Amino acid sequence: MKLSAHSQQPIGVFDSGVGGLTVLKTLMEHWPHENFVYFGDTARLPYGTKSPETIYKYSMQIIGYLRQHPVKAIVIACNTASSHCIEPFIENIPLFNVIEPGSRAAIKSSLNKRIGLLGTRATLLSQSYQKKIKTLDPSAKVFGQACPLFVPLAEEGLIDDPMTDLAAYRYIQPLLQEKVDTIILGCTHYPILKKAIQKVAGPSITLIESGEALSLWIKETMDQGALAQNTSSSENRKVEILSTDGGEHFQNLALQILDVTDFSSKNILYRMVDLSG
Ligand code: DGL
Repeated sequence: MKLSAHSQQPIGVFDSGVGGLTVLKTLMEHWPHENFVYFGDTARLPYGTKSPETIYKYSMQIIGYLRQHPVKAIVIACNTASSHCIEPFIENIPLFNVIEPGSRAAIKSSLNKRIGLLGTRATLLSQSYQKKIKTLDPSAKVFGQACPLFVPLAEEGLIDDPMTDLAAYRYIQPLLQEKVDTIILGCTHYPILKKAIQKVAGPSITLIESGEALSLWIKETMDQGALAQNTSSSENRKVEILSTDGGEHFQNLALQILDVTDFSSKNILYRMVDLSG
């Protein structure tokens, strides 16, 4: 694959809202020299309750927007969108999804090959994880659980809250009855609620987040020469955060997830964008 982008161009990362920031945070730690542009489609959130056609349409609009930015690669930091856009490249730009690395990490972690999957309804209905895991290990069994209340709880920032604990109990209990030893957090919003999820699951269950495994995949792609690595000083690294709605609330939650006190401190810029304009 011929490189069509310059190493200093940012890596685009997108999600329906704040969830993908959990992935961005991991990527920023793993790749301190890389520039990033994050796109949260808060105006049209949630994606997980929408039809495959709508999810695909929204995702392709964002991919088109990021392409013009221009970015050198795109990370679909949304399991719902990843389940509906499976192309590995778009016009020579590598397109990373979260299903592939999440499935690999789950197979590696599970000893009894009984894997729990928490996700949006759209992700579960697409069978994306079930199909990927079956191709990686036909003996593995996947037990899915849709968690429609988790995204609004995470978007509201109800991280340490009895309502979140109750929802976690409701969603995780059925998986424990199936004796899973690994649970995939199959929605990038769920790591925000990780503490509540782990409390119900117990310490012996491994929770899989896609960020770590995704970083490894990006490294492999760079090593293969299909993605140019930025080697400029990390001092100059820029991170742009864009959202289609939710100005102040979105910004505060973004700071909390990225673990920074204010944007300018780490060359992080925020602005709202209008996709229709
Ligand atoms: N964060 C997204 C995911 O990983 C979905 C949230 C939504 O329903 O919009 O699936």
